[in-house]
Amino acid sequence: MLYILLLIGNIFSLISPIFLKIPLQTKTSERIYMDLFAKFENQLGPIGDNADQVPGYFSFPKLEGDIANRMKFQGKECIVWSLNNYLGLANHPEVRKADADGAAEYGLAYPMGARMMSGNSNKHIQLERELADFVSKPDAMLLNYGYQGMVSAIDNLVTRHDVIVYDAESHACILDGVRLHAGKRFVFKHNDVEDCEKQLVRAKKLADANGGGILVITEGVFGMSGNQGKVKEIIGLKDKYEFRLFVDDAHGFGTMGKTGAGIGEEQDCMEGIDLYFSTFAKSMASIGGFIAGEVKILKFLRYNMRSQVFAKSLPMPLVIGNLKRLELLRSKPELKERLWHNVRRLQSGLREQGFDIGQTNTPVTPVFLHGNHDLFETTQLIYDLRENYGIFCSVVMYPVIPKGQLMLRLIPTAVHTDEDIDITLAAFTDVREKLNTKAYPKEFPPIKGEAVTSATV
Ligand SMILES: Cc1ncc(COP(=O)(O)O)c(C=O)c1O
Repeated sequence: MLYILLLIGNIFSLISPIFLKIPLQTKTSERIYMDLFAKFENQLGPIGDNADQVPGYFSFPKLEGDIANRMKFQGKECIVWSLNNYLGLANHPEVRKADADGAAEYGLAYPMGARMMSGNSNKHIQLERELADFVSKPDAMLLNYGYQGMVSAIDNLVTRHDVIVYDAESHACILDGVRLHAGKRFVFKHNDVEDCEKQLVRAKKLADANGGGILVITEGVFGMSGNQGKVKEIIGLKDKYEFRLFVDDAHGFGTMGKTGAGIGEEQDCMEGIDLYFSTFAKSMASIGGFIAGEVKILKFLRYNMRSQVFAKSLPMPLVIGNLKRLELLRSKPELKERLWHNVRRLQSGLREQGFDIGQTNTPVTPVFLHGNHDLFETTQLIYDLRENYGIFCSVVMYPVIPKGQLMLRLIPTAVHTDEDIDITLAAFTDVREKLNTKAYPKEFPPIKGEAVTSATV
């Protein structure tokens, strides 16, 4: 179950302390002694609470073989729907060659040190220039990881006088960045522009009183529901409330817009996005990320963002590999076309078969299975899909979605085939029938656990 719950991380990151039970206390002669580690005994927190249910299967599964539409899971071939390899670049021969050449020439160490101190190179600068041009911003700065970069950028952009307004379904990196903020923050209902405006009214009053500004943060494409963020509509509120907009477009970069430049291009509103962020972990199938925006803001971030100033810069093979990925992303529109062919085929097939796939208007494809489904059914369903239909996908359940419901999340990519989609549609129809007729046994499936870490199971 851990695997299922991993997807819930962004919500749990805020509420997890509530779930941890009160630690054991030991009374010594005069005072109560509490071992810090006692609270971890027999409990792994909300995500890990079911870790002993077949580790290596639901949690920490190992997908083996080249990253592709089909990979091996526990020795059997599966159609894989859970990797954000949108454009299929992970195993593209030119990408593999660039990665290998970069590693052969530079090793993993170069350049040593933080970017500002001793970790700079012409290739880092070149990648930043090309990224800025691609997303039509004056400047861009590389990040050594997307998550840390986003947290740290938010931390840097605001002081206690400023106010943050953000979407309720924001990714953990946004929530954690907001948690560092010493001033006020207001959350608006997911993708609800009216509620966003309500929060802006409160934020403006406060910011004006404090002599601060307002930072609005949202996502270009929400990774669970597949909803596009209402970026253009939020930009429409700028004149009235005078805020700056920071957009995390992790799932939109490479997938949305005519050229793949992301949500700003898709909604024709790139100018209104003050800071544009993407990770390299999705369409680029790599590591790292970037923020693009005005020169003076990025100059400030370059000298102040703690996750960059106090951490090593991106190793050269990653920079070289990312330059190649960006080149392919720009020069091979057929990759995005193939992705969207698959998105349309999968999503229209699911809709035709009566599945509820929510409001997605992006490649992220949720499949909601309504009913009163419990943990046994959920694990049986995943087991059945993997063992009997050769389908590997992610499952999301309560509390991310209402109790009793299940959500399967599919990520189509450019390397999936029509046959993969047809097999999956037929399998989903079968398992829905089994769920509806309560055909799954009320017990955990008979799976053997296997080692998931260096500590054996
Ligand atoms: C919306 C969003 N933002 C940021 C990140 C973090 O990116 P990274 O994996 O580069 O740390 C992710 C996940 O990869 C994400 O889905």
